Amino acid sequence: MNKATFNLHPRHHAGPVDPRIFGGFLEHMGRAVYEGVYDPSSVHADEYGCRSDVLAALAELDFTVMRYPGGNFVSNYHWRDGVGPVDTRPTRRELAWGTIEPNTFGTNEFLDLCQRTGWSPMFAVNLGTGSPEEAADWVEYTNGSLVTDITGERESGSTSGTTKVPLWCLGNEMDGPWQIGHMPASEYGTKARQAAHMMKLVDPSIELVVSGTSLPDNPTYLDWDREALEAVGGFADYLSTHRYLDNWSNDTAAFLTSGVAVDRQIAEIDAVCRYVAARRRSSRRPYIAFDEWNVWYRTRNRSGMWADGTFPAHLVEEVYDLQDALVCAQFLMSFIRNADVVKIANIAQIVNVIAPVLTSGDNLLRQSIFEALSMFVGRRNGTSLYMGYDGSLVPSPDFGDVAMVDGAAILSDDHELHIYAVNRSVDESVDLQVNLSGGHLETLSVELLHHSDPTTQNTWDNPDAVRRVSGEMSNGPQPVVTLPPHSFLAATLSVS
Ligand code: AHR
Repeated sequence: MNKATFNLHPRHHAGPVDPRIFGGFLEHMGRAVYEGVYDPSSVHADEYGCRSDVLAALAELDFTVMRYPGGNFVSNYHWRDGVGPVDTRPTRRELAWGTIEPNTFGTNEFLDLCQRTGWSPMFAVNLGTGSPEEAADWVEYTNGSLVTDITGERESGSTSGTTKVPLWCLGNEMDGPWQIGHMPASEYGTKARQAAHMMKLVDPSIELVVSGTSLPDNPTYLDWDREALEAVGGFADYLSTHRYLDNWSNDTAAFLTSGVAVDRQIAEIDAVCRYVAARRRSSRRPYIAFDEWNVWYRTRNRSGMWADGTFPAHLVEEVYDLQDALVCAQFLMSFIRNADVVKIANIAQIVNVIAPVLTSGDNLLRQSIFEALSMFVGRRNGTSLYMGYDGSLVPSPDFGDVAMVDGAAILSDDHELHIYAVNRSVDESVDLQVNLSGGHLETLSVELLHHSDPTTQNTWDNPDAVRRVSGEMSNGPQPVVTLPPHSFLAATLSVS
């Protein structure tokens, strides 16, 4: 039998887990907004035109921050199109995804939705076709307290729009040639700095995220990040990074070790943040906003991503399987382990578009990745503990031999230990032992996500194929739990 031990110490910690790493992302793309969260024609529409069934499912995932309105979309979006009386708003051709934008859902509708759901809004400004002035005006519109023409526009809007926006992204993936308004890092740096300066003059309390490299495969990876951060200087609170993992090679064993790539990316981006801060002789370093992450490959091609004028288009509606869920769990475990540097993370996205929730007409499906995400809910407050791993390894084509069990641990203020573990082996079980410096551990809850076939999906015909079940774990100074092949465990233990 394979064995693995997580060696932990209550005072050996990476730092408090920032609740914002459990964020989401809602883009005006495909059926994410229209037919996703917002659909006045649905039988599920609430008094605001939002789908109550979708919001109820999303509430189960308890997202903290919500990034909006894009994504690639934002680089050709003028926020003024989406405010004021709905019947005066323009219908626009949208160039990022080739669709039509009716603008019936905009700033006020989103902020009011945030108020009802408890999401903290995280806006991205248009640094493609937009200007620094337009970005600063948007801050004034949402956060301004002076009596001006712009705050007056907010008050005459269709809804109250009283929620303030504390977090702003300075553009999106501006390093990518596909991005509308894509430009070299030096030009982006100048424009982002101008925008940052004006935005912080309007509201000095906001925090800013610099647009970093979108794909580690991009030739400018890390150079772009350094140049952009240097240019934005002291206005930079966070550096954005994105990652979509894939299983193009249809190799489950390799795919289940791909979470290692996330750790490496965090280490590399962190190195740039520290380097730039050190060169500025500044004790204030930018932290990491991992503000797009997920598995995405099946629908990642021109026909899956281009709407050809239809509205709303079925774009990138990836159907996930168990192995995708295990990789999503590895993303979140990596963010927890790196709590000292990763302060924000947003799964891309939340409904229909590469999402945990799918809709079809009036029906709703919780995908396999929904299950993995929900296993973190109620188990995520506290301090991330460093983990010494002892035990079996599995081979990875990209990373050599890696831990068979990928894990993370959080110690809460009320003496509960939350353990997460993915068994990366395709065909072998492992006995996992947890050792918190000899402390006595008593099981409070154990959940397992598992199926004999890692390619199993939740489908409209079989919506509950991938569901978490209760598991068993012993009590004592070194409790043990058996992880079946390709499975995910989330457990909470009391510490005495
Ligand atoms: O999440 C889908 C798209 O992926 C986003 O719009 C873009 O930022 C990224 O390339």
